[in-house]
Amino acid sequence: MNQIKPQDNLISLSQFLIEEQLKLPYATGGFTALMNHLVYAAKIVSREVRKAGLLDNVLGATNQQNIQGETVMKLDDYADRIFTHALTICGHLCAMASEEQEDLIPIPEGYKCGKYTIAIDPLDGSSNIDSNVSIGTIFSIHRRRDIEAKTQGELEDILQPGHKQRCAGYIVYGSSTMLVMSMGTGVVGFTLDPSVGEFLLSHPNMKMPESGTIYSVNEGNYNYWSPEFQNYIKNIKSLEGDKPKTARYIGSLVADFHRNLLKGGIFLYPNDTKSNKYPNGKLRLLYEVAPMAFLAEQAGGVAVTVDGRRILDLTPSELHERSTMVVGSKKDVEHYLTFI
Ligand code: AHG
Ligand code: MN
Ligand code: MN
Repeated sequence: MNQIKPQDNLISLSQFLIEEQLKLPYATGGFTALMNHLVYAAKIVSREVRKAGLLDNVLGATNQQNIQGETVMKLDDYADRIFTHALTICGHLCAMASEEQEDLIPIPEGYKCGKYTIAIDPLDGSSNIDSNVSIGTIFSIHRRRDIEAKTQGELEDILQPGHKQRCAGYIVYGSSTMLVMSMGTGVVGFTLDPSVGEFLLSHPNMKMPESGTIYSVNEGNYNYWSPEFQNYIKNIKSLEGDKPKTARYIGSLVADFHRNLLKGGIFLYPNDTKSNKYPNGKLRLLYEVAPMAFLAEQAGGVAVTVDGRRILDLTPSELHERSTMVVGSKKDVEHYLTFI
């Protein structure tokens, strides 16, 4: 088993970032430093996740609700504090946004403001925490509009369209901890080796298969969907023509996306047309939908809204705006588009 990928031949994430930086003559090292802070926080969160069940501050709910009316789990709160702290002190951000915080998070007085913004879902898949099922973290990094400015960032610095992301990625706390990211030149994946405390390049040049057999959707919501969407789901399960697709749904976007990135398939989170609960879908554009769309396109996949608009062209108008999402293998999403 140890012979497959000897550690000695694996490049660490820190080394990878330095090498990427050296390719850009104008790079100042700010982005590399920002990523190092993010990665450090990810290692801490990963360490706590691995001890869940042993410590009483990891599992269970707090008595708070977030801006979206969802119960904040202890790990949501912990991850939010770890990531926002590590990121505020790095000196290369001018503003941040987190799922767990209503407003733009300013850089505290006494810390330097830099040229980047970050939007983050500190802990994705909260409903799975207590049952030891894969969870994750999602991040999306933009350059501020005026990269020379040294002041605090403004809302407009973070409310930028997805195609302008400088970097997007996620960490999945699964059977191993992996960090998958794209800086706009393809997708790379690193696996955390806990014995050395380093993310090592395990998945260079990740590509989503052109088509897949998996579909991932919360089918419990079937009766809330539009007739077009219901028809599509009926079609991919039908016995006529191709074999029916296979259903796989974890309920953690990071884990569902990660599986489909590796194996191919389609993930869908549509809107609710029959109740007022999710008229625009449940997932959040800035820190869930847009970063996954960026990764999907960079891996050769496609990401659109339920009515077929390219996700990366959408400009958010508020921090916690929701969007529908249909993302996955190119041919599978193209097939979906024939139903709308
Ligand atoms: P979060 O835990 O960050 O609030 O995100 C939960 C999201 C996402 O991870 C997942 O894909 C989706 O909610 C699952 O929603 P349903 O339970 O409605 O299927
Ligand atoms: Mn989430
Ligand atoms: Mn979350």
